[in-house]
Amino acid sequence: MSEQNNQPAELAIPGVADSIELPIYSGNIGPDVIDVGKLTSQGYFTYDPGFVSTASCESAITYIDGDEGTLLHRGYPIEQLADKSDYLELCYLLLNGELPGATAKAEFVHTIKNHTMVNEQLRTFFQGFRPDAHPMAIMCGVVGALSSFYHDSLDIDNPQHRMITAHRLIAKMPTLAAMSFKHAQGQPFIYPRNDLGYAENFLHMMFATPCEEYKVSPTLAKAMDRIFLLHADHEQNASTSTVRLAGSTGANPFASVAAGIAALWGPSHGGANEAVLTMLDEIGSVDNIPEYVRRAKDKNDPFRIMGFGHRVYKNYDPRAKVMQQTCHEVLEELGVQDNPVLAMAKELERIALEDEYFVEKRLYPNVDFYSGIILKAIGIPVEMFTVIFATGRTPGWIAHWCEMIGGNYKIGRPRQLYTGSPKRDFVDVADR
Ligand code: CMC
Repeated sequence: MSEQNNQPAELAIPGVADSIELPIYSGNIGPDVIDVGKLTSQGYFTYDPGFVSTASCESAITYIDGDEGTLLHRGYPIEQLADKSDYLELCYLLLNGELPGATAKAEFVHTIKNHTMVNEQLRTFFQGFRPDAHPMAIMCGVVGALSSFYHDSLDIDNPQHRMITAHRLIAKMPTLAAMSFKHAQGQPFIYPRNDLGYAENFLHMMFATPCEEYKVSPTLAKAMDRIFLLHADHEQNASTSTVRLAGSTGANPFASVAAGIAALWGPSHGGANEAVLTMLDEIGSVDNIPEYVRRAKDKNDPFRIMGFGHRVYKNYDPRAKVMQQTCHEVLEELGVQDNPVLAMAKELERIALEDEYFVEKRLYPNVDFYSGIILKAIGIPVEMFTVIFATGRTPGWIAHWCEMIGGNYKIGRPRQLYTGSPKRDFVDVADR
């Protein structure tokens, strides 16, 4: 719980006799916040497009210090979690607040494994999508459609129902993700195998066929698990805020997460990993990089270097460092160290980190810069990249939704600075 400081902020408004006192709250770490909630009763709104200075909620899940390049989940640094933990353990941590003991961990893994199948009727939904449908379009639809299967556990005020839903979502996302891939391939869906690990099972559902088993390499399974782990949560980002906003109306969690998937799709957010590969494809060779760097710096050119820059990190994204290491492990395992795409990525990183424009604006590689290269090397097509981000982010979305619904919350309802026409009288069509 946050603490109120003794000394409030005072806001002096020209023409208003008394200044307005605004309480200041301190969290456990990070900047204090000024509570502007009562400004509306004084006839004012705050104005903060893009919410760059606005804390929309209290949360105890994830902490980011963008200047330092720090990311903590429930207090644990992401580097330690990536090194010593695994994705399902992190899911447990995000949902429950503490790391599980050995028994709790085994039970959690067992529970998730036993929810991996989706209702057979959900398979028929896929027939309605064109074979060339973007898998994110399919995911927006089918995750929302899960709401229609679980009437028995949709009481959002029941903590047990909330937890069952969290488990179902974490368990079924890889199954649905792999189904969206198989649909595009024109191949039969592959059922989950509960004797496999979470990431291993995902790769099995992606690449096995009824006629051929897919032998999952431990290095690739570990890389996949890391990709999920590094994407698991990221504080109040656009998609998580969307899940909270949708959920604040009392919408069910499947519908709220479907809203988050839609928000994640954009190239400024989860779509960036797809955009990185498309960009590297367009650049074509190391020799063309200086021209693209020049374009990125040109104010009149909308081109941006995808995978660079972040709203919060003004330092190296700590996830990008881990991802870079994983990238090398995967390429070594696959024997493709001389990968031309990786060569371009490295050169782009080198130039951008030295270039005055990027240094001055504190634009560093973000998590998406390397994840795309790893996914491509594993054999996952570019259109699936954001689906994999969505799969990894699911525990974060649902943990934030649970935290909000289990606490005190209001419907999210921002205000505006109106710039439209003042009141005017309707003109009949004949007189316009
Ligand atoms: N390439 C070139 N210039 C850039 C870039 C870039 N990738 N990113 C920001 N800038 C410039 C931008 O032009 C602006 O310059 P100026 O001050 O002269 O107008 C300045 O840096 C600040 O940019 P901004 O757009 O105001 O910053 P923002 O915090 O609103 O945007 C961002 C953050 C991530 C949307 C942006 O950096 C970007 O578009 N990056 C490329 C897309 C990308 O990689 N997105 C993935 C984000 S990480 C994954 C996730 O968490 O979802």
